[in-house]
Amino acid sequence: MKLQIEKYLAEVQSFTTTSLEELEQFRIKYSGKKGILNDLFALFKTVAPEERRDTGRLLNELKEAIQLKHDSLKAGLGDNDNKPEKLFDLTLPVTDDQSGSRHPLAIIRKRIIDIFGRIGYTVAEGPEIEDDWHNFSALNFAPEHPARDMQDTFFIGSNPEVLLRTHTSSVQVRVMEHTQPPIRMTFPGRVYRNEAISARAHCFFHQVEGLYIDKNVSFADLRQTMMYFAKEMFSPDTKIRLRPSYFPFTEPSAEMDISCNLCGGEGCGFCKYTGWVEILGCGMVNPAVLTNCGIDPKIYSGFAFGIGVERITNLVFNVKDLRIFSENDVRFLRQFGSAI
Ligand code: DAH
Repeated sequence: MKLQIEKYLAEVQSFTTTSLEELEQFRIKYSGKKGILNDLFALFKTVAPEERRDTGRLLNELKEAIQLKHDSLKAGLGDNDNKPEKLFDLTLPVTDDQSGSRHPLAIIRKRIIDIFGRIGYTVAEGPEIEDDWHNFSALNFAPEHPARDMQDTFFIGSNPEVLLRTHTSSVQVRVMEHTQPPIRMTFPGRVYRNEAISARAHCFFHQVEGLYIDKNVSFADLRQTMMYFAKEMFSPDTKIRLRPSYFPFTEPSAEMDISCNLCGGEGCGFCKYTGWVEILGCGMVNPAVLTNCGIDPKIYSGFAFGIGVERITNLVFNVKDLRIFSENDVRFLRQFGSAI
């Protein structure tokens, strides 16, 4: 009998598994009611008295080895009190939908980029901390030009050379400095202005800038592209209106309105009862800007535009106060889960 026990002992000690099911079979085989241990203990009763001490000791050794092997394998398989089933009551009803969603501004930024992507515009980004050259000078803001006063700028420390960009037009410069036309790109990003915070203005907001430079690009191309954008973004019956404006980096310049989609052009509080809402600035890139960036204005021309992401988001989701975009109120944010 001793030999038999020793055989089982070796078998138990070399046993291993990664399956809980196999481990359970192991337990049944050795410690189950009709298992090997019980058989051996029954047999033990027939052992001759002089053999009893040694055989008994061996039998106990086997019993302990079985228990030890079982417990250590079970712990290794994670079948202990940390099992999820023991930490949570999986039969309780689900309490909340915890899946995240895109921020409404991110949803609209993506839609804008995609609309232009469909007509060949690729995407680039520039830094939020800019220098005077890229934010102002290269864009034809003369040192003493009153246009600089149009923007209340956050300077970094007292250095007038370093600032938080006031518009994404700075990325136009960065791209043109390194790329020869044709250029067809959008530049999304956050911009900063020192403005009193209200329902319509904030000290930071978002723009998607666009730039198209090639041979023979005309104002008609600009108008057609803007109309395509407005119809894709809102609806096919959206109307556009270009009003003459001034930007130092475009000539001629325009501000673009769309028919107010909150009231269908009838007039409401949002459009100040005019039926029109301004959504972007645009124009033909000033030849001086092309020259500043190393592009020959005798060969190339182009247009640029800057779209206010908050304004579009207000219109698409009927949100009237832009402060709510940065308040991180999940009751507001989680409403956009399905609007990818
Ligand atoms: N940078 C202007 C702003 O911040 C918007 C703008 C106007 C961008 C005309 C342009 C443009 O590219 O051509 O208000």
